[in-house]
Amino acid sequence: MTKLIVKGGVPLKGTVKISGAKNSSLPIIAASLLSDGINIIEDVPDLEDVKVMCDVLEALGASIEKDKGTLKINSKNISEHEAPYDLVRKMRASFLVMGPLLARRGKAKISMPGGCAIGTRPIDLHLKGFSALGAEIIFGHGYIEASAPKLKGAKIYLDFPSVGATENILMAASLAEGKTVIENAAEEPEIVDLANCLNAMGAKIRGAGTDIIKVEGVKELRNVCHSVIPDRIEAGTFMVAAAITQGDVFIENVLPDHIKPVSAKLKEAGVFVREEQKGVHVRADDRPKSVDIKTLPYPGFPTDLQAPMMALMTLAEGTSVIIETVFENRFMHVDELKRMGANIKIQGRTAVVEGKPYLSGAPVKATDLRAGAALVLAGLAAEGITYVDNVYHIDRGYERFEEKLNSLGADITRAD
Ligand code: EPZ
Repeated sequence: MTKLIVKGGVPLKGTVKISGAKNSSLPIIAASLLSDGINIIEDVPDLEDVKVMCDVLEALGASIEKDKGTLKINSKNISEHEAPYDLVRKMRASFLVMGPLLARRGKAKISMPGGCAIGTRPIDLHLKGFSALGAEIIFGHGYIEASAPKLKGAKIYLDFPSVGATENILMAASLAEGKTVIENAAEEPEIVDLANCLNAMGAKIRGAGTDIIKVEGVKELRNVCHSVIPDRIEAGTFMVAAAITQGDVFIENVLPDHIKPVSAKLKEAGVFVREEQKGVHVRADDRPKSVDIKTLPYPGFPTDLQAPMMALMTLAEGTSVIIETVFENRFMHVDELKRMGANIKIQGRTAVVEGKPYLSGAPVKATDLRAGAALVLAGLAAEGITYVDNVYHIDRGYERFEEKLNSLGADITRAD
């Protein structure tokens, strides 16, 4: 398996540019199925997950031209309504094609997305929304089939503000007959980005970014040219990288509002954080102070940055309590951090981290993309060398991760 070999002890210094958001790109690529024109999407990061989503669309009959960060997606000839099992198995987000297929073709057949390292990750809220819009849902042989000659607007309450369910329902409702109201909707910036893209395609969506989103269905959607927002999770990861190595880094292409929870927590930990027009400046001259963290749906502290922040807290002065409220099993990185000398105790969804003055490099394994990133950050601060295995997890969500870190002075090599 490919490994990253991380030499510790080097403070990161310099400027790094953040890529376009993975979690915006994936739903916006899926949304291209809603128009029969050519959609141009810019600032798309070069990631494994983006490749898989493009493969799904091509399997459905779309044609896609890639030119660096720009995708030209032609969904004129969508001939299929079934997303291939082997692709959906690779990436849960493939399920985001169900809403657009239902709206565009009146039917969709997608294999049940498996769970993954961070939990079972059901899709009941997606299906609740599609049923409310009039779709008939059938389960069989590991597949879910949904059909609806014509979707009709409805009022839908989400038991949990699920990001994926909000996105899937939003895309389906855009072409439904009449009004749809999504209550207790997810408020993440990626929802706003998707809604902005859909509105540019002719949809009538109001309230994205709040917990109540209203959609007035339209007959058809036209093609669009849309640039995705910067990746707030990659930005937060590099902010923690600057803090954990006691470095001095300017992180470009960041929307300050999107990283407020991370900036606030790092400031609380005694890290210097200054939000500027073009990005954010992060500097640390000493070990961080311990802070407590509770992950919540946006605008709370993002679950995707729980692992990187835990890596930082293993070196803090004091004890921090970290509560993961979004996923039921997102502490897979704890055992790996303990191999590096971290002192962490888990009770259910709560981790108690006793900060220590140093970590020691060790062979560790990435278990999901954010856990993998956290282990690299820990390796950057540890004494000695850390070998991070299963790097494919990291490549799913971070574009040129070690290249960007090395441009800031890190010493990371990739080895098979
Ligand atoms: C999105 O996943 C992101 N992925 C995740 O990022 C992120 O961690 C998550 O939102 C939360 O912010 C993409 O956008 C591609 P959810 P998603 O539906 O949509 C439960 C990363 O690292 N739930 O908001 O799958 C679910 O079990 C990835 O980039 C239901 O119960 O997340 C979980 O406990 C990891 N029923 C909680 O909601 C449903 O029908 C949050 O899930 C759907 C979800």
